[in-house]
Amino acid sequence: MAAVALTVDFADPALESAVRSRLDETEAALRTACDSDDDMVDGAAHHLVDAGGKRFRPLVTILSSHFGDPDRAEIVPAAVVCELTHLATLYHDDVMDEAPVRRGAPSANQRWTNTVAILTGDFLFSRASNILADLGPFAVRLQAQTFERLVIGQIHETVGVAAGDDPILHYLSVLADKTGSLIATAAEFGAHYAGADPTVIDALRRFGEQIGVAFQLSDDILDIASESDESGKTPGTDLREGIATLPVLYALRSDDPAEARLRALIARPITDDAEHAEALTLLRASDGMREARQTLRDYADAARHTLAGLPDVPARAALETLTAVVIERTG
Ligand code: IPE
Ligand code: IPE
Ligand code: MG
Ligand code: MG
Repeated sequence: MAAVALTVDFADPALESAVRSRLDETEAALRTACDSDDDMVDGAAHHLVDAGGKRFRPLVTILSSHFGDPDRAEIVPAAVVCELTHLATLYHDDVMDEAPVRRGAPSANQRWTNTVAILTGDFLFSRASNILADLGPFAVRLQAQTFERLVIGQIHETVGVAAGDDPILHYLSVLADKTGSLIATAAEFGAHYAGADPTVIDALRRFGEQIGVAFQLSDDILDIASESDESGKTPGTDLREGIATLPVLYALRSDDPAEARLRALIARPITDDAEHAEALTLLRASDGMREARQTLRDYADAARHTLAGLPDVPARAALETLTAVVIERTG
């Protein structure tokens, strides 16, 4: 099953129809950008785009463009660049995380090989660069800086926290870099190309970063809380890969004797199926999980606070409901 689409209540019918039509244009351009004359490359490049996905980043770009003139021609290509960058990183991330399923389909590394998945990701980056060249130097630089942060976030997650550093601060900075960076840029692209005021562009960028961290945090919570394949991914992957996400970090620093067994289990990567299932059950009911949900709400509150400083256009209300959706999806 493909990842479930985000249902956003737009409240304003004119905004909803304008956004839907821009999303449709983005979808068509995205698929064209994945086309190749080489059948093998064409199949591998279309694999994930065809499998589904929420198109969260294009939605952020298009909603942000409604703080200026949303009809400007650059907005759709900018949204396509964000989704292509995201898609390419998913090909690479599933190799890194040894993930078997993505968007309800076998991951490219599972369907083909790690090498094909890595090279298909590179192919999609090259297609994004091609579109960026038409958008011009501003877009090329912004995407380059964003991609640098994203990659550094992935490296910092892989290498882990340095001795003596706070693991929770490390984790939150990884989230800002690997996920907040691209969603912040998705917002900036929309506002910039719509010709919004510089202060509005800055605020939307800040909002994008905050909702981006909240979005990744909710994804990490879902990886533990979810008992189904509703996300289109395999729940429990982080624990199996030894990636300590926020509920785990909070649980590890607790000294509650009732959670001693949980701490013993999660102190190292879990390979045994029975121990993995036991750890997930204990984590779901842990204080660490409750604390992580509170941190998610704190980031969402910060995002809402940033939105409150923006002009009260219908897109602002839609971004507020999008923020609520990010929390609500964790149940
Ligand atoms: C997955 O992103 C990786 C994260 C940053 C959590 P999405 O949850 O946006 O994945 P798709 O695009 O809907 O598949
Ligand atoms: C997201 O990290 C990947 C990027 C932001 C590049 P995760 O590894 O947590 O995402 P999922 O759970 O595989 O989608
Ligand atoms: Mg992953
Ligand atoms: Mg990962």
